[in-house]
Amino acid sequence: MSLSGKVSLVTGAGSGIGRSCAIQLAQEGADLALWGRTESKLAATGAEITRLGRECRWYPVDVTDIHGIPEAVQTTRTECGEVDILVNSAGVNIPQNAEDVTAEAWDTIMDTNVKGLFFCCQAVAKQSMIPRKTGVIVNISSQAGKVALPLRAAYCSSKGAVDQLTRVLALEWAEHNIRVNAVAPTFVETPFTAKMLSDRKFRDYVMNKIPLRRLAKPEDVAAAVSFLASDRSSMITGAVIPVDGGWTIH
Ligand SMILES: NC(=O)c1ccc[n+]([C@@H]2O[C@H](COP(=O)([O-])OP(=O)(O)OC[C@H]3O[C@@H](n4cnc5c(N)ncnc54)[C@H](O)[C@@H]3O)[C@@H](O)[C@H]2O)c1
Repeated sequence: MSLSGKVSLVTGAGSGIGRSCAIQLAQEGADLALWGRTESKLAATGAEITRLGRECRWYPVDVTDIHGIPEAVQTTRTECGEVDILVNSAGVNIPQNAEDVTAEAWDTIMDTNVKGLFFCCQAVAKQSMIPRKTGVIVNISSQAGKVALPLRAAYCSSKGAVDQLTRVLALEWAEHNIRVNAVAPTFVETPFTAKMLSDRKFRDYVMNKIPLRRLAKPEDVAAAVSFLASDRSSMITGAVIPVDGGWTIH
């Protein structure tokens, strides 16, 4: 198993893509630390990982509480060991017409998707990765970082920022042997998209934009994440890999 003996920290691990990534990494031999806001959802993911025979602990951490992140990383390191792999999946979207976007919605999206993600990278790199001169970070971006999507002024801005952040961190931390990459999925069937995809018109619009004519599954994203987390991608850093069935090629 390619990730045997590695400790992976996954944010937003209670549901959707984060949950699927955590399980995939465990299937490849990693032990897991799960972060998220809702303890019961983290515990459910944790139970699946324990059944796979891997070590797993979970921590209720809100990534927008940026001053609490260094201490949460410290606790995670003490109880789980040094973090080898960080997957940043915690994220939010609040669909609104551009003319109706409120300052509160803008801040919630940016604070979670960009600021929280950045300070998770910073704390894990500083405490676990830079001192040991090794580490892998995978950010869950979105096709929204590259193409415009209606009702998503703040969300698209946040994912564009994640793409740029990924490249800057890859450049700065290459000297510490830390690789930083991102994956950029199209619409994935998760609790995040359940309501919007239940609208037939919207679902048809999405399907027509995807040349492969299907929505992504959380497992499609997890497969790309596990590749980027493993040594199979040891020459890849600063990349944003689309997992979009071809949406962004036309
Ligand atoms: N589902 C999609 O179609 C899709 C497509 C492209 C990108 N993404 C991205 O994938 C990531 C995961 O989305 P998902 O579809 O799994 O959604 P989800 O809602 O199922 O999971 C997101 C998780 O993040 C957690 N979270 C949110 N804010 C948090 C915070 N402040 N602190 C800690 N945890 C927090 C939520 O509680 C939830 O468990 C997000 O970054 C999202 O932008 C999703």
